[in-house]
Amino acid sequence: MIDRREFIRQSATGAGALVLARKAFASDTPSVSRIEILLNEPLGTISPNLYGHFTEHLGGVIYDGLWVGQDSKIANIDGIRKDVIDHMRKIKAPVIRYPGGCFADSYDWRDGVGPAGKRPRRANFWGDKSESNQFGTNEFVRFCQLAGSQPYLAANVRSLPAAEFYRWVEYCNAPANSTTLGEMRAAAGYADPFHVRYWGVGNESWGCGGNFTAQEYAVEFRRFTTWVPRFGEDLSFIASGASDFNYDWTRGFLEEIARKDPGQINAIYGLGLHYYTWNLSRGRTKDWDAGKGDALKFDVVDWYELFREGQVMDSLIDAHWKVMAEFDHDHHIKLVVDEWGPWYRPGSAQTPDDLLEQTPTLRDALFSAMTLDIFQQHPEKLAMANCAQLINCLNSLYLAHEDNFCITPVGHVFDMYSAHQGAQALRTVFSTPDIHYDRDGKDASFWGLKGSASLRGKDLVLTVVNPHVSESREAEVGVRGAKIDSAIATVLCSSDIHAHNSFAQKNAVHAESVRADSKELKPSGGRLTYSFVPASVTKLTLRLA
Ligand code: AHR
Repeated sequence: MIDRREFIRQSATGAGALVLARKAFASDTPSVSRIEILLNEPLGTISPNLYGHFTEHLGGVIYDGLWVGQDSKIANIDGIRKDVIDHMRKIKAPVIRYPGGCFADSYDWRDGVGPAGKRPRRANFWGDKSESNQFGTNEFVRFCQLAGSQPYLAANVRSLPAAEFYRWVEYCNAPANSTTLGEMRAAAGYADPFHVRYWGVGNESWGCGGNFTAQEYAVEFRRFTTWVPRFGEDLSFIASGASDFNYDWTRGFLEEIARKDPGQINAIYGLGLHYYTWNLSRGRTKDWDAGKGDALKFDVVDWYELFREGQVMDSLIDAHWKVMAEFDHDHHIKLVVDEWGPWYRPGSAQTPDDLLEQTPTLRDALFSAMTLDIFQQHPEKLAMANCAQLINCLNSLYLAHEDNFCITPVGHVFDMYSAHQGAQALRTVFSTPDIHYDRDGKDASFWGLKGSASLRGKDLVLTVVNPHVSESREAEVGVRGAKIDSAIATVLCSSDIHAHNSFAQKNAVHAESVRADSKELKPSGGRLTYSFVPASVTKLTLRLA
């Protein structure tokens, strides 16, 4: 394997005799690709919350992942793993969803507050181990405070009454001396209210969250949200939304809400959407385990097929948005993609006992980057998105076990992309030849380059994915209405598409900056010609003249 720096250099100059299957997976006849950033076509402000996270009481997410306990010899702050806190601050993690997922609808928040020694042990929804309740609302909110994030709590609609929902709100948000629950929180050492703004009303209520019909769930949603104490907070209720292409859920829910009282539409802040990619096609089916693709053992066709499945996110957002418009003409309600990411079959975990843990590779870094790029092109539609999940589960940013810790390639992408948070998204047009590949005897194709751009003052950030396994893609980058004065590049890539980080090799995949004075970062006539290396995520930070 060649050295990373050398790989970037050789690929970018076109001199690399790349080892991967160049002939079998060719792109259209090479021609100059173009990326045009349209300064006068702003799409909206990119909500920082599109970079949100998700932590569930599932497998190794909370215990061992986040919570190591105050007496642990593992570096921690108030019992929470310090490595995670440090990196989350670095990536400006804006919001964290908790405690589920499916776990949420069997969780009694009261089990997780009060003196630690008195908290009950309970069966966990996921069934792999019992729930000690040592980590509950106080510890989660403390984690959010340390990480610099806002909490997003998901309430139990399936197995607790509405009163327990508003009492949880009261426990979190009541001033210390105003109610018994406020006093209880203060007695636990949290005199200041938690100011929890985001509240999910159930999770996957069409399935593990109660098996409701959309109409039945609308009735529950009304019951849960008709009266909730505010304590001066701008409470934002997020309804449990559809998975994938289930437009009937979106339509059925909103139709029932609007039928009873069209004004109630305004009581809804967000509508959830879950979309996992299973690396299907090639005869695989969405079975619980064996049907999915493998996180580590995949070929070039699986690589492109995962991206094709991921690209569907773009049309899902548009299609659900269109259905929402049937009932919410002014688009008061925004979409909240509160679970997304690739979900592979078991077998690749760094800690084999951790349920739903998988090892993210370079492929998942590109996947995550293209998903964030998609989100950024819909800033007016999306209020939040939460990658599933933060640590030791599915598309993790971190893997941890006891005193082992590493940042995955996905974690590095969140770091690179944090520069977009709060900036103005700009329409960006990519003109580039498609990649063609042979999908088991049939011609298949995928786009050659894509990404997104955002502007803050005179600083423009352009993020780009080159999915080609072996070919660099040279592109002329221009900003319509301005000239590029200078450029800095940060690149995440590897000559091995299976590259991943592990406890033994923590740094196999990471992002590197290309020297600002290097030849290929010199704009000419206000435009920049840049060669995007194969299988890469690139961030170009452009200073406009
Ligand atoms: O993220 C794992 C699970 O996937 C969540 O608990 C559930 O909401 C979804 O089905």
